[in-house]
Amino acid sequence: MYNIIRFFLFLFNPEVAHHLAMKSLKIANYLGLLRFATKRIQCRPRSLMGLKFDNPVGLAAGLDKNAEYIDCLSKLGFGFIEVGTLTPRPQPGNPKPRSFRLTKEEGIINRFGFNNDGIDKAIDNIKKTKFKGILGINIGKNFDTPINEAVNDYLVCFRKSYLFASYIVLNVSSPNTKNLRKLQEGESLEELLKVINKEQKILHKKYKKYVPFLLKISPDNTNLQLSFICKLLLKYKIDGVIATNTTLSRSGVSSMKSEEAGGLSGLPLRLSSLKTLKYLKTKLNGKIPIIGVGGIMSGKDGKEKIDNGAELIQIYSGLIFKGHKLIYELCREIR
Ligand SMILES: Cc1cc2nc3c(=O)[nH]c(=O)nc-3n(C[C@H](O)[C@H](O)[C@H](O)COP(=O)(O)O)c2cc1C
Repeated sequence: MYNIIRFFLFLFNPEVAHHLAMKSLKIANYLGLLRFATKRIQCRPRSLMGLKFDNPVGLAAGLDKNAEYIDCLSKLGFGFIEVGTLTPRPQPGNPKPRSFRLTKEEGIINRFGFNNDGIDKAIDNIKKTKFKGILGINIGKNFDTPINEAVNDYLVCFRKSYLFASYIVLNVSSPNTKNLRKLQEGESLEELLKVINKEQKILHKKYKKYVPFLLKISPDNTNLQLSFICKLLLKYKIDGVIATNTTLSRSGVSSMKSEEAGGLSGLPLRLSSLKTLKYLKTKLNGKIPIIGVGGIMSGKDGKEKIDNGAELIQIYSGLIFKGHKLIYELCREIR
């Protein structure tokens, strides 16, 4: 069935196809049709970071940037949903076209640049959902906030998200916001983790609710950079890490579109993402949970992440290329 839907969606450019797919999903949900499209998931629930996940397969950030489709996406069978990346103020993102499908290679290049309606609008949307499952809110900085003031953007979004998120993600790894990845380095990362850690303690006490936060990292870090990141994650006892975001590398892709600027996801990302995961596993030694994401296009790819240290996994490109049957395939393979 999804092959037919995909055939029509792939006639359009990826951004148009995305909007068509999401609107159709919303209508299908409204008409009660998603009940027939989804099956019961047979999978062991997981407990992590004080949260209970019905199954270990989540939706990665970027697909539902403004938290507009949580109710219908949850009906596809995900064990958890992550919305965002959200910034303090709304921003349009980069000029179009800004998303490219590498169909043969099962990859996507995007340079959206955090197009979003801002954290306040997203929180309004979240307040309206009926969803009771695990919801992650992924936050970032506005494109025009100087990098030395970025911490404040994260702080604003963290405070506004706190009561509405099951967990919060600091996205410091998108390649499409100038200098953002500098926040993964040196004193900048230490300051960010220190400030958010302190705020988490204040809000925990104030609201008597503990909301874990995770750091989302890039697959393009050297081992030296990763070693530094791990040291800080351990020093500040950060709740978790998400590995990985998209890559700037073009290794393994050769079609004309591969020359487009932006972050590459999907199958061509699998190996570099896996390498990062393996490194994290060795350095973190089970002390900090890892969510594995990047290049999961089959049940086998998902199991590979779990076997190499991921406690949970997320998909984005796999959903576009394989449809939601991939969620069932992953749950069957992982159990
Ligand atoms: C079109 C597109 C937009 C994305 N937007 C975001 C985003 O806003 N924030 C974020 O943290 N990751 C974003 N990502 C990265 C994904 O969450 C994920 O980390 C990455 O695509 C690797 O997973 P995949 O190979 O399953 O797609 C985006 C990915 C794609 C393809």
